[in-house]
Amino acid sequence: MKVTVMGAGWVGIVSAAAFARFGHEVVCTDIRDERIVALNSGDLPFFEPGLFELVAEGLASGRLQFSLGTDETIREADVVMCAVGTPPTANGSADLSAVFECARQFGRASVKKSVFVIKSTVPAGTAQRCKEIIEEEQRLRQTNLSFSVASNPEFLAEGNAVRDALTPERVVVGCDSERYFNFFEELYAPLIAQNIPVVFMSVASSELTKYAANAFLATKLSFINEIANYAEIVGADPREVVKGIGLDSRIGPKFLRPGVGYGGSCFPKDVRALIASGNEAGYRFRILPEVDRVNTFQRVRYYEKLSGALGGVKGRRIVIWGLSYKPETDDIRESPALYFIDRLQQEGADIVAYDPRVKESIHSVFPALALAPSAEESLKGADALVLLTEWEEFSKLTVAEIRAKMLGSVIVDGRGVWKEIQNGLIT
Ligand code: UGA
Repeated sequence: MKVTVMGAGWVGIVSAAAFARFGHEVVCTDIRDERIVALNSGDLPFFEPGLFELVAEGLASGRLQFSLGTDETIREADVVMCAVGTPPTANGSADLSAVFECARQFGRASVKKSVFVIKSTVPAGTAQRCKEIIEEEQRLRQTNLSFSVASNPEFLAEGNAVRDALTPERVVVGCDSERYFNFFEELYAPLIAQNIPVVFMSVASSELTKYAANAFLATKLSFINEIANYAEIVGADPREVVKGIGLDSRIGPKFLRPGVGYGGSCFPKDVRALIASGNEAGYRFRILPEVDRVNTFQRVRYYEKLSGALGGVKGRRIVIWGLSYKPETDDIRESPALYFIDRLQQEGADIVAYDPRVKESIHSVFPALALAPSAEESLKGADALVLLTEWEEFSKLTVAEIRAKMLGSVIVDGRGVWKEIQNGLIT
């Protein structure tokens, strides 16, 4: 199959490389010339385990190409997949202008029966608006080509995206016209052969499935954070509680690690976008605003553990371990570290940070932030250590080893890494 993926961002590149592995002829496009040049020579704009190898394999086989998003890249494609960004607007709703621009280009350029597939995260009703845009473009060209607009959300988690793309737990396809199901059966044939479920549903259901999945996981996290906060007061151990409930298969053991709260470009944005699209549709979500509030509160709570243990942070040397919002990525968007550093700077702390992957990019937010060359180096003269991302190299060190290298003894464990640390704090 000929597949064009519009948008050479994280989702677009991972998806395009996976489709090339599935045996399709893939062009991944972008409007940024320098990004295309870099990608064609194998340079990735971010770190994602296994992706460099998968892209290199696609480029070497000739099945994967990167190109500027010209009309030619759309003309002959069977499937045109839109994977452009949907950043938040001021009221939290998703900015869909790039998605609509892709639909317009598809309407202008396609010359054969094909499907326009929305992979970007978009609220229910977006595919319908894209359909109208494409019809309008076809009217202007005085053509009446057969096409369908489908939704095929991604469930890729950063740090695990290659595995999630090559062996997903499920593929969701929203397609209102059965005449186009065969496009997806061919697109995902290698997955269907492995008995991975490809679930067909209406377009609106598929669009909502994406938000529902992320909002549910975010709810699970805020729920367990509240249980952990309460456990601390009544003398229960949240880790034991998590074990106790996680063995119930209806609950499951995953996404129950309490701590400093979730970050990243997905959960915070998608929870707020779902609230906003509910409001627009006349439905006021009651749980989701609390999910968001609990999550924001977690970082404040952990900050106050630190500040309380030190009797104020002014002039104290504080070490931050972990700048990315989770391990195995160099992404700092909505990372709890940003809140900590900002507040520590405002309150006059002397900060040094270390992250195995995040280096200069943090200086675009905090130009003067001191970075240590290694975790151990960072501890010299430290009054306190705050762990905000559970990179494996941190958990290899014991609390005793860490404290032996520090000046003080306060450790805030924002991710529940060390067994010896109860409720995220040891003084
Ligand atoms: C999330 C979803 O997991 C993906 O399925 C989805 O495709 C993606 O969003 C997206 O919409 O693109 P991601 O944000 O990359 O993926 O990472 P997660 O592994 O879900 O972690 C999100 C946050 O939750 C991180 O800050 C992590 O530290 C936190 N978390 C996770 C916890 O605090 N506790 C846990 O037990 C698990």
